[in-house]
Amino acid sequence: MAVQKPQRETWSSKIGIILAVAGSAVGLGNFLRFPAKAVANGGGAFMIPYFVSLLLIGIPLMWIEWTLGRFGGGFGHGTAPGIFHSIARKNRFIKYFGVIGIFGPLVIFMYYLYIESWSLAYSFFAITGKLSQATDQIQMRGFLQGFQGLTSNQFFSSLAPAYTFFLITFVLNIFVIYHGIKGGIERLCKWAMPSLFLCGLVLMIRVMTLGAPDPSRPDWNVLNGFGFLWNPDLSALKSAQVWLEAAGQILFTLSVGIGVILTYASYLSKTDDIVLSGLTAASMNEIAEIIIGGSIVVPAAFVFFGPVDIRAVADSGVFNLSYVTMPLILQHLPLADILSFLWFLLLFIAGITSSVSLAQPVIAFMEDEFNLSRRKTVAIFAVATFILCQPAVLFLGRGVVDELDFWGGTFFLVIFATIEAILFSWVLGMEAAWDEIHLGSEMAVPRVYKFIIKYVTPLFLLVILGTWFFQKWLPVILMEDVAPENKIYILATRVGLFLIFSMIALMVKVAWRRKRQTAGGAQ
Ligand code: ALA
Repeated sequence: MAVQKPQRETWSSKIGIILAVAGSAVGLGNFLRFPAKAVANGGGAFMIPYFVSLLLIGIPLMWIEWTLGRFGGGFGHGTAPGIFHSIARKNRFIKYFGVIGIFGPLVIFMYYLYIESWSLAYSFFAITGKLSQATDQIQMRGFLQGFQGLTSNQFFSSLAPAYTFFLITFVLNIFVIYHGIKGGIERLCKWAMPSLFLCGLVLMIRVMTLGAPDPSRPDWNVLNGFGFLWNPDLSALKSAQVWLEAAGQILFTLSVGIGVILTYASYLSKTDDIVLSGLTAASMNEIAEIIIGGSIVVPAAFVFFGPVDIRAVADSGVFNLSYVTMPLILQHLPLADILSFLWFLLLFIAGITSSVSLAQPVIAFMEDEFNLSRRKTVAIFAVATFILCQPAVLFLGRGVVDELDFWGGTFFLVIFATIEAILFSWVLGMEAAWDEIHLGSEMAVPRVYKFIIKYVTPLFLLVILGTWFFQKWLPVILMEDVAPENKIYILATRVGLFLIFSMIALMVKVAWRRKRQTAGGAQ
C-alpha cells in the first residue's frame, strides 16, 4: 500500500487555498480575454452559452480537479501522471495522458508571463505620465506596437523597455515560486486577492457613473452598455463557434482542464473540504469575471464606441480593448493617470497570481517524482522557462503567442478536461468518485450533478472536440489562416511544442522506471 510522502507541503489555512485557487482562476482571462470574447461574439449572444458551460462543464470540472488532486496528493503525487496512475495502477499507459497536465500549463506560462509583464510596464507608464502622451486611437495603438517591438516610433525605439519589464516579472514569479506553497503562493494570494477586488471595485464604480460623453448620441450610455452584454440574443445559440468560444473561455478562466488545480488540491489533506471550497473559489472567479470584468471594459467601450464599432475594436485583436481602448477611455476622466495605474495594476495582480499557479505543476512534478529539493527544482525551472519564454517575446509579431495560446490555452485544455471527466466518472467510477468528493465536505453536491458529471460533462466536451475536429482540424494543420511569411515561425513553434511534450513524456517514463528499480531494490 502506498504511503504519503511526509515532506510534501500543505496549505496553512482553508482561506489560503481558496484564495490561491481563486488567484489562479482570476487572471488575464477575466479582464482581457472575457471582454474581448464577449464583445466579438455579440455581447448578449455569448452569455447564454457561457452560463450553460459554467454549469455543465466549469463547476463539475472544478470539483473533479479538486477531488482528483486531493486523491493523488494522498499518494504523494501532485501532477496528472501520478494522479492518473493512482486511479488505475494496473494500467501502465494511463500516466502518459497526464503529460498534458504538465505540458499545458507550461505552454501557457511561456506566453502568459510576457503579457503579464506588459501590465506591470503599463502601470509604470501610467503613473509616470508616459502613457498619457498617446492621446488618440492611432497613437495608443502605436504606443502598444512600439512597446512590443513591432515598430519603432516616438514612444519606443527598441524592445529594451519591454524586455526589462519581462525580466522583472520573471524574477518576481521565480521569487514567489521559490518560497513554496505556504510561504510564497499562499502569502501572495492573501494580500493580492483583496487588493485586486479593491482596484476592481473602484474602477467598476467609476465606469458605472459615466454619463453619455457624446451629447449627439445619448443612447451610447452605460445602461445600454450593460444591455449589450446582458440582453440575451437567442438567435446566436445556433452558432457552434459561439458555443466553442464560450466553453473554452469557461475552462480557461476557471483554470480547469489545465492541470493547476490538481496540483493545488494535492496539498490538501484527505478530509479537507473540497465541495464548498471549490465552489467558493469558482464563485470568486465569476464575480471577478462577469461582475467586475464585465462591468468595466465592455460598458466603458460601448459608451465611447457604440454598438457597431465596439465589435470592430474587439475583432482587431484580443489586447486592443484592454491595452488601447481602456487607457484612452480613462484619459477622458478626472485622475486619469491614477485610474489607468489601477487598471494595469489590477491586470498585473490578476496575472501574477495565475502565472505562479501555471508554474506549479512542473515544480511539483520534479519534486514529487524525482525527489529533487525545491532549490534545485526552482533553479532548473528558472533556466528552462527563461529560454522557453523567449519565442513569445521575440516573435510576437510572427503569431507565436497566438499559436501557443491555441495549443496550450484552448486545444489541449479541452482534451485534458475530457480525459479528466472520463477518468473520474468511468475509471475511478461514479460511486467511488461521489464518496471521494464528499470526504470531509461541508455541503453536499446537488444530486443532479451525479448525472451531469457522469454523462453531460464528458458528452458536452466530446461534442465540442468533435465539432472542432470536423470544422477546423485541416485548416489548422495546414496553417491556412497563417500569413505565408509567418509559416516558418509557426512550424518551428509546433516542432518546439512537440519536443517539449516528448521530453515530459520521457521524464514520466524515467521517473516510473526509477520508482520500479527503487521498489525492486528495496525488496
Ligand atoms: N485562469 C487564468 C486566467 O483566467 C489562467 O487568466
